[in-house]
Amino acid sequence: MHILHVVGARPNFMKAAPVLHALGTRPGVRQTIVHTGQHYDQNLSDVFFSQLQIPAPNVNLGVGSGTHARQTADVMSSIEPVLLGRKPDMVLVYGDVNSTVAAALVCAKLLIPVGHVEAGLRSFDRTMPEEINRIVTDRLADVLFTPSADGDENLLREGVSSEKIYRVGNVMIDSLLRLLPAAIQCPPNGVPDHFALVTLHRPSNVDENETLKSILASLLTVNEQLDVVFPVHPRTRMRIAQFGIKVDKLHLLEPVPYIEFLALQRRATAVITDSGGIQEETTYLQVPCLTVRRNTERPITVTMGTNTLVGHDSRKLAMELTAILEGRAKRGSIPPLWDGHAGERIADVLQKL
Ligand code: UD1
Repeated sequence: MHILHVVGARPNFMKAAPVLHALGTRPGVRQTIVHTGQHYDQNLSDVFFSQLQIPAPNVNLGVGSGTHARQTADVMSSIEPVLLGRKPDMVLVYGDVNSTVAAALVCAKLLIPVGHVEAGLRSFDRTMPEEINRIVTDRLADVLFTPSADGDENLLREGVSSEKIYRVGNVMIDSLLRLLPAAIQCPPNGVPDHFALVTLHRPSNVDENETLKSILASLLTVNEQLDVVFPVHPRTRMRIAQFGIKVDKLHLLEPVPYIEFLALQRRATAVITDSGGIQEETTYLQVPCLTVRRNTERPITVTMGTNTLVGHDSRKLAMELTAILEGRAKRGSIPPLWDGHAGERIADVLQKL
């Protein structure tokens, strides 16, 4: 059996690693890794490959940045000859980035079966580019691996046949559990004892001057109570510079490697983010998470976990933060099948198919 994995952007790497490791131990399985090159910076890509012990990609398409249409089209036109040449039995795509939907669309036309890892998540917000990527990828996929029951429900409601859906649990948590011991050993590296860890990169939060200014103003207020440690995504750094916003008082960092970022999450008093994956990691680590979005495609982190949606409401952010500082943080539990074995379950399904 020849499985070809397509990865492109930072959040793909921790999802693919456990599947690659699990399939790597199965007899008769050959694997190929195609990196689209959507993320190309050392600290958004290479360091994740080395920390997650992912073998070097067999092919790097080198697509780089661009508008959504350009980036998606570049992945499509450059992956087609690779798929025709390598003839995989199945292609696995991960998450919801542009590389995911682009590869799925090419496979569908070439009649190569596609498996989607992290299928079925829905924010019901079509202004999010990732929501479009999720819907289209799930429409095209032949096998859909979901992390939680809400994923199955969304797919069934959209008419996906139940035989294609496999609830395997959360692959991100496999990677977290594998590298948590290394994260526990990480030195604090000059980060204060008590801090709020912040990440922001959603276009809806950072691409408009007024929105970004008001979110950063709320963070400056937070910083008066609790030091803000903020690894800044390249998109956000570019916007802060473009809009000339002053954030000198915050503790700004370059994007942080995976193990060091897990260490920061574990030690944080609170995490403030607009990321998808971090809502899940904080739920697992039982660290309070305030999500700067009006919706989430990961509702289980709110209903079962430590996540609270604060939207763009700075008063709600302040109120929730005060609750955390006064010891009234939301206490969550860990969702079923977030147990470190999702990659193994995916390998089991692929072998059976
Ligand atoms: C992408 C994903 C998003 C994911 C995020 C994680 C899509 C639609 N979005 O968003 O779901 O949560 O990755 O980081 O696929 N850039 C660099 N170096 C790089 C890559 C990008 O400097 O290695 C800069 C470029 O200026 C680029 C900008 O970041 O224009 C945005 O990159 P892009 O890949 O388009 O989207 P992300 O915002 O990273």
